Amino acid sequence: MTGDIVALSDQHAAEVIELWEAAGLTRPWNPAADDYTRAVEGPTSDVLGVHDGGVLVGTVMVGHDGHRGWVYYLAVRDSHRGAGMGKALMRAAEEWLRLRGGVKLQLMVRTENRVVHDFYRAIGYEPQDVTVLGRRLDDA
Ligand SMILES: CC(C)(COP(=O)(O)OP(=O)(O)OC[C@H]1O[C@@H](n2cnc3c(N)ncnc32)[C@H](O)[C@@H]1OP(=O)(O)O)[C@@H](O)C(=O)NCCC(=O)NCCS
Repeated sequence: MTGDIVALSDQHAAEVIELWEAAGLTRPWNPAADDYTRAVEGPTSDVLGVHDGGVLVGTVMVGHDGHRGWVYYLAVRDSHRGAGMGKALMRAAEEWLRLRGGVKLQLMVRTENRVVHDFYRAIGYEPQDVTVLGRRLDDA
């Protein structure tokens, strides 16, 4: 039976990383375990997750930077897609932000992952007229 969407903790790290890898979300230059620990232990972020029969079937990382809320690592296990779980996780992330006073939730989609644009549009997210710039501060 599918459980509630709840904030995950350090003890869930291994199953979370396994799901992120299965969903194709990890990249060698972003150590997923480090990303998870920072999000779970930091004061302005959480990783929300949902289990079904003891198996982790969905996650979303949500945080706020003092101005906007941001979502990362939205993943639904293959076996559970197309049943509203991705939408439910995004709604839970929105509620998380709303409770902390945030009024806008944003996310970035990798260019090669255009296939999820229709999912985000279906749940009310629209492309923004911005260009994201970035610079690494490590040697990766
Ligand atoms: C993207 C993802 C989270 C969607 O999860 P899901 O549980 O299958 O999505 P839902 O069942 O909640 O779909 C919600 C809505 O989006 C629509 N939708 C979902 N995937 C879609 C697709 N590929 N194309 C068009 N519409 C889609 C559904 O029809 C549904 O519409 P409705 O509310 O009108 O019925 C899932 O496919 C996934 O984990 N993908 C791999 C990881 C990934 O790419 N994450 C996003 C990184 S930016």
